[in-house]
Amino acid sequence: MRNVQVPLGDRSYAIKVGGGLLSRLGLVCARLRLGPRCAVITDSNVGKHFAKAALKSLAASGFEAVLITVPAGEKSKCLAVVEDCHDQLAAQRLERKSFIVALGGGVVGDLAGFVAATYLRGIPFVQVPTTLLAQVDSSVGGKTGVNLKAGKNLVGAFYQPQLVLCDLDTLKTLPKREYVSGLAEVVKYGVICDPILFAQLERSLPKLLQRDVPTLRSVVARCCEIKADVVGQDETESGLRAILNFGHTIGHAIENSSGYGKFLHGEAVSIGQVAAARLSQKILGLPSGDAGRIEKLFVQAGLPVKIKLDAARRKKLFAAMKLDKKVSGGEIKFVLAKKIGQVVWGQKVPSGMIDEILG
Ligand SMILES: NC(=O)c1ccc[n+]([C@@H]2O[C@H](COP(=O)([O-])OP(=O)(O)OC[C@H]3O[C@@H](n4cnc5c(N)ncnc54)[C@H](O)[C@@H]3O)[C@@H](O)[C@H]2O)c1
Ligand SMILES: [Zn+2]
Repeated sequence: MRNVQVPLGDRSYAIKVGGGLLSRLGLVCARLRLGPRCAVITDSNVGKHFAKAALKSLAASGFEAVLITVPAGEKSKCLAVVEDCHDQLAAQRLERKSFIVALGGGVVGDLAGFVAATYLRGIPFVQVPTTLLAQVDSSVGGKTGVNLKAGKNLVGAFYQPQLVLCDLDTLKTLPKREYVSGLAEVVKYGVICDPILFAQLERSLPKLLQRDVPTLRSVVARCCEIKADVVGQDETESGLRAILNFGHTIGHAIENSSGYGKFLHGEAVSIGQVAAARLSQKILGLPSGDAGRIEKLFVQAGLPVKIKLDAARRKKLFAAMKLDKKVSGGEIKFVLAKKIGQVVWGQKVPSGMIDEILG
């Protein structure tokens, strides 16, 4: 097992990464000195596979756990489901010392984290991420929240968990498309911070695609270390944390303009990172060899790197990009790469150039 520390003063916490960890959930919660009662919040897919094991482990360590299952999918990230969870917690008489276990992907983590942040003005919570995206990204860093009709993640709180438990064996039941989509975020960490990780990914991609646990242990732990380090320096995204958005300006616009669900987040971000690499070549002189390696790695992972755009979709994509938070004075701000492992944020890019590289 690997242990990664998120350094946030009195809100610091550990991320544990390894195989077979779900069976130790109760033991690690016991060490946190939490109250005797808890609620496991999960979704209908994840619950089928792992709720029993989570409840069993908690019970074996003396916890009294109740299960709350929400429907799988992004639609559950909404205030109506938050209210429903609050009602169930109140009905079960969970109190200030009780805690929540978020067992699932990013949807469950963001939802359950927000439920924990707001119930009784905040009770402790533990993240047990079960998607690759959630293990390397959403479960670390304390962003919790839900969507409004007006847009994604518009209501939320920065609220750090007590612990993140990444059981790599849970990834085995993840649908292939979801797993591969998570790899887009993994590659991102190599591009933004770590040329050695990037080279490791190039070498070990076949093993990673087989979900080989030893390979995952080192890769997931390294991604968590990078995110922990960035979040430790900039918890509330006033600066450095922006580098985690590499590939996301175009990626988010692709998700928004093509209707949620058509592209998975990682697929859109894969296209976005390849586009950002091309812009980086033009603006920051990213060597063409580096841009080529980035594109090749995504292709070999089985991720899309291009998008076909007719005039109407192109217009929609630009409208979506301009609605994003990163626009100032008509110019769109990007995170761009100088070389693999080094990026700069806040780079202004004229729309004409984006239009050109999207082909
Ligand atoms: N808080 C953050 O910092 C942050 C960062 C990135 C993304 N997010 C959020 O994360 C969400 C996306 O997360 P996601 O990609 O994990 O999606 P998800 O939680 O919807 O999971 C994807 C699908 O896989 C299923 N699933 C999850 N784990 C499984 C397993 N082990 N076996 C079988 N099926 C499993 C889920 O039921 C779902 O159908 C978005 O809402 C996004 O906004 C948050
Ligand atoms: Zn992302």
